[in-house]
Amino acid sequence: MFKDCHISGSVLVAAINLAAAKATQSSVTAMSPYPPLNVRIVTPRLELHGATDDLLERLAPLVHAGKANDDPPPYDDPFWAYEPDPDLRVNKWLQGIWRGRGTVTPDRWRLHFVVMVDGEPVGMQDLIGDEFETFGTVETFSWLSSDVRSRGIGTEIRSAILHLAFEGLNAAEACSEAGLTNAGSNGVSERLGYERNGTAWATCDGKPDLGQRWRLLRSTWEANRRDDILMHGIEECRSAFGIARSDS
Ligand SMILES: CC(C)(COP(=O)(O)OP(=O)(O)OC[C@H]1O[C@@H](n2cnc3c(N)ncnc32)[C@H](O)[C@@H]1OP(=O)(O)O)[C@@H](O)C(=O)NCCC(=O)NCCS
Repeated sequence: MFKDCHISGSVLVAAINLAAAKATQSSVTAMSPYPPLNVRIVTPRLELHGATDDLLERLAPLVHAGKANDDPPPYDDPFWAYEPDPDLRVNKWLQGIWRGRGTVTPDRWRLHFVVMVDGEPVGMQDLIGDEFETFGTVETFSWLSSDVRSRGIGTEIRSAILHLAFEGLNAAEACSEAGLTNAGSNGVSERLGYERNGTAWATCDGKPDLGQRWRLLRSTWEANRRDDILMHGIEECRSAFGIARSDS
């Protein structure tokens, strides 16, 4: 039946592998014409993907179910988190991300990533630049579904986003801030070598809350930098928006 087929076994295997690779690539990382949505950061344990609408739709049930804003409460940076109506909470959450997407400039930006563990979305990790061209500082914000906290994932996603900030965008310093009682967020900062940088008042569900501020210097990050984190799509993002600092 196959007598007219002259494809050798190895060529056939290569063709099958190529087709399989393409199928996997298109289902996992369909390319977007908007560069920030194509950025991926890959660690041995998880991936951060640019927050596409497909991924946000998959993440929405967790936001709807209140798994993003379970105790400990984050600051009011994500204004959506304390919205009691689940449908409205999802709407506000999406609007915040879409606003961030639409306002990327070299100096001021917020990049949103979906945290993928074993192919499933479990939370978000944001990287924020505010007067980035002047100061070279970045801030981070994250939340994980309450089902998966306290397993080291928070530390891993912060490591991944710091790699993007320092290696990908040439940041000078990374900052973080969390309520004094937020053991998860403060634990991640401490674990990754941040130094304490005073306290500051912020609001948490509209109420005043004293927060611990942290800073991680580039030199500290360099001394502990990992060589097992890969970045994809950052070059296109940099050239589209000019958000990387040049060496100074
Ligand atoms: C902040 C957050 C992302 C951290 O993620 P996580 O996966 O829970 O953190 P990890 O498991 O990596 O833990 C990091 C460190 O904090 C410690 N820690 C985490 N949760 C803790 C808890 N509830 N109590 C005490 N220590 C805790 C861990 O022991 C670990 O320290 P170690 O490395 O010395 O062992 C997660 O807790 C979260 O989504 N919180 C709600 C949203 C939020 O507060 N975001 C911060 C914005 S202000």
